[in-house]
Amino acid sequence: MIRVANKSDYIEMDSVFRASAEALCVRDYDSQTVLDWVGEARPERFVDSANDGCTQYVKVLENKVTCFGELNIEKQLLLSLFVLPDYAGKGIGQEMIEFLLTKASDAGIKILKVDSSLNAANFYLRNGFVEHSKSDFTTQNGVVLESVKMECVLST
Ligand SMILES: CC(C)(COP(=O)(O)OP(=O)(O)OC[C@H]1O[C@@H](n2cnc3c(N)ncnc32)[C@H](O)[C@@H]1OP(=O)(O)O)[C@@H](O)C(=O)NCCC(=O)NCCS
Repeated sequence: MIRVANKSDYIEMDSVFRASAEALCVRDYDSQTVLDWVGEARPERFVDSANDGCTQYVKVLENKVTCFGELNIEKQLLLSLFVLPDYAGKGIGQEMIEFLLTKASDAGIKILKVDSSLNAANFYLRNGFVEHSKSDFTTQNGVVLESVKMECVLST
């Protein structure tokens, strides 16, 4: 089941983010860049993104947050989607992206944007996004990551 995240999920979401980036993003970034990006545990990152207008969703399995996604309706932006490495490749990311696309469409968004990490660009391509441009994404803690700006036209 996917549900809206609570503040009490933030510690687990932070663990999912850090484990996922360290295990799955190193395919396309050097490990020092990933370590700088991931930094220390910082669940407050989700307080910041919620204050910035994001709605956060979690997929809970076996009493564990296995995946989270963040959608900023006002900015028409999919901010993040991370799967716990042990649960990758089992259809959870797919379930979450379909859920987020439906939420965005239901909110009346016509074009949803994402700044995709290099490793996930093909995943978004498979899900209806097209590449808009290459870009440099500055993370909350100031690390610059090569990324791909992508857009998905939603049917409303
Ligand atoms: C990208 C990510 C969300 C995919 O989640 P996942 O749960 O492993 O993906 P799924 O198991 O749902 O895969 C669904 C389909 O997409 C494919 N797929 C998964 N990851 C892919 C990738 N990086 N590139 C291309 N295809 C991918 C799968 O092979 C599967 O195909 P199939 O239906 O033909 O079998 C996950 O790898 C992840 O968390 N990556 C690190 C974090 C990240 O970079 N997030 C994006 C930030 S913007």
